[in-house]
Amino acid sequence: MKKEFKRYLVTSALPYANGPVHIGHLAGVYVPSDIYVRYLRQRGQDVISVCGSDEHGVPITIKARKEGVTPQDIVDKYHNIIKSSFERLGMSFDIYSRTTSPTHAKTASDFFRTLYDKGEFSEATSQQYYDEEAQTFLADRYITGTCPKCGNDRAYGDQCEKCGSTLNATDLIDPKSAVSGSKPVMRDTKHWYLPLDKHEQMLREWILEGHKEWKSNVYGQCKSWLDGGLQPRAVSRDLDWGIPVPVEGAEGKVLYVWFDAPIGYISATKDLTPDWEKYWKSEDTKMVHFIGKDNIVFHCIVFPSMLKAHGGYILPENVPANEFLNLEGDKISTSRNWAVWLHEYLDEFPGKEDVLRYVLCANAPETKDNDFTWKDFQARNNNELVAILGNFVNRALVLTQKYYDGVVPAAGELTDYDRETLAEMPRIRKALEENIEGYRFREALKEAMNLARLGNKYLADTEPWKVVKTDPERVKTILNIALQITAELSIAIEPFMPFSAAKIIKMLNIEKLDWERLGEPQVIEAGHVIGKAELLFEKIEDSVVEAQIAKLQATKAANEAAEKTAEPQKAECSFDDFQKMDIRVSTILAAEKVAKTKKLLKLTVDTGIDTREIVSGIAEHFTPEELVGRQVMVLVNLAPRELKGTLSRGMVLMAEDADGKLVLLSPDKEVKSGSIVG
Ligand code: 2FM
Ligand code: ZN
Repeated sequence: MKKEFKRYLVTSALPYANGPVHIGHLAGVYVPSDIYVRYLRQRGQDVISVCGSDEHGVPITIKARKEGVTPQDIVDKYHNIIKSSFERLGMSFDIYSRTTSPTHAKTASDFFRTLYDKGEFSEATSQQYYDEEAQTFLADRYITGTCPKCGNDRAYGDQCEKCGSTLNATDLIDPKSAVSGSKPVMRDTKHWYLPLDKHEQMLREWILEGHKEWKSNVYGQCKSWLDGGLQPRAVSRDLDWGIPVPVEGAEGKVLYVWFDAPIGYISATKDLTPDWEKYWKSEDTKMVHFIGKDNIVFHCIVFPSMLKAHGGYILPENVPANEFLNLEGDKISTSRNWAVWLHEYLDEFPGKEDVLRYVLCANAPETKDNDFTWKDFQARNNNELVAILGNFVNRALVLTQKYYDGVVPAAGELTDYDRETLAEMPRIRKALEENIEGYRFREALKEAMNLARLGNKYLADTEPWKVVKTDPERVKTILNIALQITAELSIAIEPFMPFSAAKIIKMLNIEKLDWERLGEPQVIEAGHVIGKAELLFEKIEDSVVEAQIAKLQATKAANEAAEKTAEPQKAECSFDDFQKMDIRVSTILAAEKVAKTKKLLKLTVDTGIDTREIVSGIAEHFTPEELVGRQVMVLVNLAPRELKGTLSRGMVLMAEDADGKLVLLSPDKEVKSGSIVG
């Protein structure tokens, strides 16, 4: 039997406040959750939507250290950027909170303490890396070393970004602390663990038996976790950023970020309403978590185990997690700046909030990873929003202005075709409801657009601009019906495109309509005077998307250059090794191209010791003329080598700039040739 619910509690994954929000976050989590809550509100449901910034965790401390600021500075900055960009996109959270709030500190701390007092944790001492120089335990991310799988010598203690392997810090060869650079040592440390294995049976029954209707990607991931057997999970960390573990003898330890973050949903609700318990503790509340696929285990296994262990809380009714959105064929990455950032989009595309919402929903990664491309963005705007939705609404309004001075005409007798057209509207409403309630937002959006398609087809088939000359009475009926469809569109598209829905309402000069009116044959009355027609959407020109593509290409080039310049450090060399190299300031006396080669120049240099010839592979970077007279650094005791018939005695030292161009190394003022470098 279908469960009846009296109210809804909708949560959206708390974004990490270590960077701004990008289109991947939006398509995966926030656009779907906003569609869902807007729909429920339109239906008059008691619904609250909570979100906030996730402000703890190691990546924030790493970013702060890199930038020479405090973690609080970092989270303040990104919390503000995220909050305001969400507002500008029309995200309708009832509260956007943060996990550094006092309410959250108390709520998370009390939650931990309750579990501790109930004996719901186990305690264990394990060995972890410790930095003796910085006197701190090291989170896995804070340890770098050589990946045992691929040999990358810049792998992190939790992951090798080169080969993608998940690692333990103890797997790394030659580990180094990212804090001080010293070699870490192993030390005992005590932590608290949530014994997930104790909750396995409850989870199996609740998910595998009780929620077979969950999306197959979510259900499948849960099943595979459960079938693999659950292990106790540490819920504390040795770190100086986070909520202190509220237990004696736990100095220097904080709650693990994944323990406190989901409790953030509870604290946000507390900050929103004194009635928060009604939403969290009543069986007739339907709780739905909107998340990305990387968060499934925390929302379906860990958080429910925490809630059960605490007691008194409800569990989520559904967790409609999405897959990932890629950008122009590559994985979105905050650290590589491979993203379309929401705050930048809003600045660069003012007034086009709904275009982004539309494209991200139409292309949402609901069942598999999907790709965002600027060409698709342009095509969907031009071929769907402008050509179908905008075009229909504009024609209905402009024709009414033209023929009836903006007064809604009364319908006369209906034809079969009129009746068939009107009958489509309740069908579309039903399909919209089924799809939104089933978390199939792409399908739902298609149905909303079908209403615009219906209107377009109706006008194209009935041709009021022709009929007006032969049968003006008939045109009254046609435009009456076209205006009904327009008004109903303002209802149907509101969850997806709230700005455009509001524009239609304004142009029609009506009050916002409830969902229940969708499908009725007459929602706007004859005699009503509509407002001025404006364009809902405008065409996006090639140059606009080409500029965005060029921006991404520049990012790619910068990343590639950064990878090049940041070559991993070579193996250690001793001072004696270094002393063996004799580097001298030398002056280039002559330069000429080496015949039949593209890359080689023959240089005659005054090393202060002698005048000699050096063959150098720099012909593609310098002309002979620009080199003559320059002072450069030369490794003079490099073993001589014959190159194209010349005995080359030494090497001119160069650096490579970000674009791969070679740059000479010269003393910053002229010195005597032969001056020793070292
Ligand atoms: O993956 C993330 O971005 C996490 N910050 C999501 C946290 S969701 C919740 F539990 F707060
Ligand atoms: Zn590797």
